[in-house]
Amino acid sequence: RGVVVGVDIGGTKVLAGVVDEAGVVSSTALRTTPGRRGVTRQAEDALVEAVLEAAGGQPLAGVGVAAAGFVDPAGDRVMFAPHLPWQGEPLRELLQDRLGCPVLLDNDANCAARAEGHHGAARGARSALMITMGTGIGGAVLLDGRVLRGANGMAGEFGHMQVVPGGQPCECGKTGCWEQYSSGNALVRNARALMAEQPSVLAESSGGRPERVTGPMVTSAAEEGDLVARQAFASVGDWLGIGTANLVAALDPEVVVVGGGVSAAGDKLLDPARAALRRTLVGAAHRRVPDLVAATLGPRAGMIGAALLISGQERW
Ligand code: BGC
Ligand code: NA
Ligand code: ZN
Repeated sequence: RGVVVGVDIGGTKVLAGVVDEAGVVSSTALRTTPGRRGVTRQAEDALVEAVLEAAGGQPLAGVGVAAAGFVDPAGDRVMFAPHLPWQGEPLRELLQDRLGCPVLLDNDANCAARAEGHHGAARGARSALMITMGTGIGGAVLLDGRVLRGANGMAGEFGHMQVVPGGQPCECGKTGCWEQYSSGNALVRNARALMAEQPSVLAESSGGRPERVTGPMVTSAAEEGDLVARQAFASVGDWLGIGTANLVAALDPEVVVVGGGVSAAGDKLLDPARAALRRTLVGAAHRRVPDLVAATLGPRAGMIGAALLISGQERW
């Protein structure tokens, strides 16, 4: 019958992997994505190449796609994507034609939530929030094991809630969006600003060129105890907790799961977020404040959840 491949396409990279029914990943492949101003065909090529390399010549039973964008309710098109060139792209059909197998499509954070619900940190929870911190912030609401879709299929776009009126311009075209203050992009922006004022190992790792600083560089600098990197995480973590408090006030979930590349920093990110959640959440002294935990499946959650679209019982 062939293998099931899950593929996650974000703002900077594509990760594909063969995933079995238990959520175990056997082989993976990585490509870079062209970004928002890139050519749609390049993003599609990166997807196809990553899937074929992961499958390694085995026949494909089906491919699940986790895309960093707004997917229509039928799961056919990426209507809009702040970090990718797609607008109304009929991605499901395009990929089915090129790969010659069934393809199912959903938002990346929705996929991550499904994976964490089946095999990870949200297992057994009746209500959970998923927050993925990558290039931007992705989100999903899990209720009784299902992802809340909304009228346009666009529920859970937490990253574009406005938190600072007239604030930083966002790739979505608006200003002051939450992901401008709490994401991989925000982390790097913070680090660049701080290293202009204070000594930092980032000056060396970037060869003295702040524009070369990347998220992973900031994470490893923070691990070495670098103060600039730690402050950059403290700010992103603080904003993570503030936004989470607003979501918890609205939805009162049992647990909040944080995934995506930035979450690899673990408690350097989550400790300031937990403090800000407690400080900001209405009635915190009179309720059980939900646990804020790192995704068990880490940055692979989106890919594993994409495969679940094919192998799982529930499509959405
Ligand atoms: C997009 C989301 C996506 C997230 C994470 C956001 O900017 O609006 O659809 O899930 O980035 O990649
Ligand atoms: Na979502
Ligand atoms: Zn935005």
